[in-house]
Amino acid sequence: MTDTLTAPAPTDADVLTIRRPDDWHVHLRDGEMLNFCADYTARQFARAIVMPNLVPPITTEAMGAAYRDRILAALPEGRAFEPLMTAYLTDTIDPDEVARGFQSGVFTACKLYPANATTNSASGVSDVKKIWPVLDKMQSIDMPLLVHGEVVSADIDIFDREAVFLEQVLGPVMKAFPRLRVVLEHITTEDSVRFVEQGPETIAATITAHHLRIDRNDMFKGGIRPHAYCLPVAKRRHHREALRKAAVSGNPKFFLGTDSAPHQRSDKESACGCAGIFSAPVALESYAKTFEEMGALDRLEGFASEFGPRFYQLPMNEGQITLRRKSQPIPELLTADGIEIVPFHAGEAVAWVFEG
Ligand code: DOR
Ligand code: ZN
Repeated sequence: MTDTLTAPAPTDADVLTIRRPDDWHVHLRDGEMLNFCADYTARQFARAIVMPNLVPPITTEAMGAAYRDRILAALPEGRAFEPLMTAYLTDTIDPDEVARGFQSGVFTACKLYPANATTNSASGVSDVKKIWPVLDKMQSIDMPLLVHGEVVSADIDIFDREAVFLEQVLGPVMKAFPRLRVVLEHITTEDSVRFVEQGPETIAATITAHHLRIDRNDMFKGGIRPHAYCLPVAKRRHHREALRKAAVSGNPKFFLGTDSAPHQRSDKESACGCAGIFSAPVALESYAKTFEEMGALDRLEGFASEFGPRFYQLPMNEGQITLRRKSQPIPELLTADGIEIVPFHAGEAVAWVFEG
């Protein structure tokens, strides 16, 4: 029973209203999984950059348009949400196809997955030199390049793969294409923070909700924790601290991208568990928790709603959303139609509730 005499009265500090945000990096999958997960993103965000790592990957304008239609069909009637589609770069993708897709408005950007770097990246780029003509075309039409920044080599320690990528791949690409706009996605290291801060205006980065909260120890707390495993893998604590500082810095080169990536529980809790954390159900609440801990709730709006559109050269959203300070228990498991997913923050209480 609520004790109305002693319950604290709501104050302005209990309600956070910001311009409607966007998610600049998300996996919405396809088929049953798309039906399951799409609205978790669409209810919080006006737009999202949708990753193309389906099987087969999205490599043509027609595939991008058809996938966009499937996403819209998976949403409840009347939901206002704009999926921003991306093309998956392969060694053999046709630069003119990519350009046509961009010019017709189907594609917003291209995604570079180094081959075998992560989930469904087998068709990715085996050597960045092979996509030089596409990058040249993208630069000439001002189409952004989105990057999964990890080298793929058994000789390079998994915790070093992002830093090595900056030096071996991204640096040379940016030198060869100085006008190409690049988003270094889901950064996990202090090295990437510095690289972006010190780089030209053409480079920006997204930061996930989970990389602001976990470090590599969280994968091994009392046993192996597959639900804390994603790629790029969480790094040492000092890297997490650098990400937290960058996110709340007010530097417009850093903005929100959840990398929410659902996998069936059985595919994560397995001898070879999949990489990916499903943060969409609690994305804004999780970011708010981090920004509050950093004493920077007033910086959340820039990070979530303003800096992304500025970099992508798109209009900001008109509406607003509200988060209320109220303890919210996050379920251990989300289930529907044979799908079982453990969400980020499962079993915890998060101090904010998204109210729409
Ligand atoms: O953790 C991840 N999951 N990282 C990626 O790069 C891909 C994603 C997925 O598709 O599951
Ligand atoms: Zn991703």
